[in-house]
Amino acid sequence: MNRPKIIINAAMSADGKIALVGGKRIKISDEEDFKRVHELRASVDAILVGINTVINDDPKLTVKEKYVPNAKNPVRIVLDSKLRIPENSRILNNAAKTIIATTKTAGHRELNAEIIRCGEKRVDLKCLMKELWNKGIRSLMVEGGSTVIFSFLKEKLVDEFYVFMGPVIIGGSAPCLVGGNGAMDENDVLRIKILSCERLGYGILIQYGVEK
Ligand SMILES: NC(=O)c1ccc[n+]([C@@H]2O[C@H](COP(=O)([O-])OP(=O)(O)OC[C@H]3O[C@@H](n4cnc5c(N)ncnc54)[C@H](OP(=O)(O)O)[C@@H]3O)[C@@H](O)[C@H]2O)c1
Repeated sequence: MNRPKIIINAAMSADGKIALVGGKRIKISDEEDFKRVHELRASVDAILVGINTVINDDPKLTVKEKYVPNAKNPVRIVLDSKLRIPENSRILNNAAKTIIATTKTAGHRELNAEIIRCGEKRVDLKCLMKELWNKGIRSLMVEGGSTVIFSFLKEKLVDEFYVFMGPVIIGGSAPCLVGGNGAMDENDVLRIKILSCERLGYGILIQYGVEK
């Protein structure tokens, strides 16, 4: 299947959480990791997040001038099966093009974004990857959250997987790096490899290898 190269990137605490209990954003990366993330953003054609991340964090998903001067902003993509994105979300600003990936059954809304429809109940990722490829998108950075990371791993739509582990512990029921339905059976566990592990700023950058 023709699809973009897919790079997952996330920051987690020492106990594997990516936000506070209740989903509120927390800064886990330090300046060195932010620089790496913005360089990665600047190097890809598109960045993708789930609708809950847009609702919780209201990210702009642009490349910060401070980390990469004169960079071109990649296309921003939101997985939003029911088209529930708030109209004033910063991801809908004019700083870059935005695509809302939704379903064939979702309603219609006037938004400052292009709409792509794939799947019936939930956005069909394989269909979306094909559509993105047809639009000339050759590289895609997936920035979360947990549910979206689970879907890409489960559907084996991953080429590179980076996790920055910061020196904080959050505990409780905070969202983990990977959410979704999880594995009930040992056979359903996703087996990954550690390709590299290096000290970066005050944390550790791990690159995992995922079977395709
Ligand atoms: N530390 C980090 O690196 C980092 C980065 C990003 C986010 N976060 C945190 O992650 C949390 C949000 O994570 P989350 O798991 O609640 O939500 P999420 O992954 O941001 O969004 C999940 C939602 O996306 C929609 N979706 C549509 N098609 C999908 C598909 N094929 N697969 C998966 N999702 C699909 C679904 O909602 P519909 O059914 O309505 O479409 C789903 O519930 C926030 O607390 C945020 O702060 C942390």
